[in-house]
Amino acid sequence: MELIDGKAISAQMKLEIVAEVRQIKASGGKIPHLAAILVGHDGGSETYVASKVKTCEEVGFKSSLIRYENNVTEEELLKKVIELNNNPDVDGFIVQLPLPKHISEQKVIETIDYRKDVDGFHPINVGRMSIGLPCFVSATPAGILELLKRYNIETSGKHCVILGRSNIVGKPMASLMMQKAYPGDCTVTVCHSRTKNIKEYCLQADIIIAALGSPEFVKADMVKDGAIVIDVGTTRVPSNKTKSGFKLTGDVKFDEVAPKCSYITPVPGGVGPMTIISLMKNTLLAGKKTIYQ
Ligand code: GUN
Repeated sequence: MELIDGKAISAQMKLEIVAEVRQIKASGGKIPHLAAILVGHDGGSETYVASKVKTCEEVGFKSSLIRYENNVTEEELLKKVIELNNNPDVDGFIVQLPLPKHISEQKVIETIDYRKDVDGFHPINVGRMSIGLPCFVSATPAGILELLKRYNIETSGKHCVILGRSNIVGKPMASLMMQKAYPGDCTVTVCHSRTKNIKEYCLQADIIIAALGSPEFVKADMVKDGAIVIDVGTTRVPSNKTKSGFKLTGDVKFDEVAPKCSYITPVPGGVGPMTIISLMKNTLLAGKKTIYQ
């Protein structure tokens, strides 16, 4: 069994981005600028956005954090999105989800200029991804592809079972793993909360990508010997053993599943660290106008 070290790979990618930013600076180019809109005070969102801003500083990007209280109107938020679309200094921006119920997330996402949509959530980016065109791929799926690539994991012809059908992970992951590309070329099965006999599907999987948000859902008796297991789960489970009062728990019962795997990602330290660095990579691509002019 080999542990897939997302922390190490993300650190390596960070150095690569730092080196590129240095080159941009040296040649008098424009420093990539990421803006983030955060609405309200959700604990998870606060942590993620703080971490995104901090990573921008670490790689040498410019960053802007725009905050609103929970009672911001949809109109006000859309106005800011349009302002960022039109601000030539901002290369890419994100609106941290979830948003309060009175605001349509879909409307906000569709208002973002797809050329600045470094989250890859805009239907143009999603659509282009699904037919294999250059686009911004959302951070978690992009991070998972990068892990498979950097560990030289063969995917062609394999049966990839994806647990979860979210717009952020499950659906894009399925689309990417079925592409005629590397990583990809898989036979893909998507299982979700209404799937009957999930265990039977999992037992047929060469690759399992677990993104249900259900702590320790994947047990040893659901995994065949030699499988590759990618755990996207990050549920905060209350714990009296940590200072923060919670423990980040994956969708895989790691201790019993790991011995059966050829490769497995831990939680924390697997997919998690790859997500933010993939957003940085997208911001770099946006700054360099690699994907769109
Ligand atoms: N909420 C959970 N994950 C994400 C993400 O990747 N981007 C944004 N904008 N919001 C999120």
